[in-house]
Amino acid sequence: MYHISVMPLEVSSYLVNKLDGLYVDCTFGGGGHTSYLLDKFPNIKIIAFDWDEDASNQFVENKKDFDNRVTFIRDNFKNIKQALSNIDVYKVDGILADIGVSSKQFDDLSRGFSFNANVLDMRMDIRNPLTAKEVINTYSSKDLADIFYKYGQEYRSRQIADAICVRRQRGLINTAIELRDIVCSVKRQEGKVNPATKVFQALRIFVNDELSNLDNLLLNIPEVLNPYGRAVVISFHSLEDRIVKLNFKQNADNKIYKILTKKVVTASDEEIKRNPRSRSAKIRVCEKTDA
Ligand SMILES: C[S@@+](CC[C@H](N)C(=O)[O-])C[C@H]1O[C@@H](n2cnc3c(N)ncnc32)[C@H](O)[C@@H]1O
Repeated sequence: MYHISVMPLEVSSYLVNKLDGLYVDCTFGGGGHTSYLLDKFPNIKIIAFDWDEDASNQFVENKKDFDNRVTFIRDNFKNIKQALSNIDVYKVDGILADIGVSSKQFDDLSRGFSFNANVLDMRMDIRNPLTAKEVINTYSSKDLADIFYKYGQEYRSRQIADAICVRRQRGLINTAIELRDIVCSVKRQEGKVNPATKVFQALRIFVNDELSNLDNLLLNIPEVLNPYGRAVVISFHSLEDRIVKLNFKQNADNKIYKILTKKVVTASDEEIKRNPRSRSAKIRVCEKTDA
């Protein structure tokens, strides 16, 4: 299984406001949300983005089932405006972004996202030059500590960064397993969560420049949405959710958006049981006004 889509019913009911509209799925992944939307609304079309080669291959595999209703663009969603104008699209009727990594990316040990990987990579788009291995082996202790603190809220960030730099004196750190073990030599297990969770999350966010990509996507959305078009953003991390919340509020204050989710939407207990990854998902939705 490539990935189990989070809250597909909620996503589809918020996103589609025009039954024969053109929509953007910024994060195609395994195509789960896209397929659900196409099935539920037979007259919509979708332009799908993903920067990952596996997602692009997945699109090619499923293309015939999409019946010419999906156009795929392998690009960073922060380039949404330019990439759409390259195919002569200037406005769309709704935009979905399901931020973060897919289960496939996480579970594939050759990608280096998991604690048990024999590589240290973490790039969602392998065309990007910066890998987790380069960061871990070349950044100063201060810079590493700042990354772990800023993107992971890791309270032992300095000690962990120091331990990494001490270990570097014996040679390159080549694998996620080695990194995990260094972190675990500094931090003891508390409860069920692996002590390296926050460091791995921080490193992934940094390597993929995730917060800045989200920021840039949000900046572009008002220019790309038609009046009454909606933006639906699913985030899994408090830093991302905060960025979305502030952006929507600022645009609502300027009468550009109406916020449709006064409280964030979260997964039902039943969905969390079926798909534990949905536990931390938060949906926020806004609608562009005709101002
Ligand atoms: C959580 S998965 C999406 C799963 C999808 N909604 C589904 O139902 O199968 C997130 C996807 O977004 C992609 N992604 C993350 N950041 C991106 C970016 N800045 N530009 C393009 N794609 C991105 C990842 O490569 C990944 O495939």
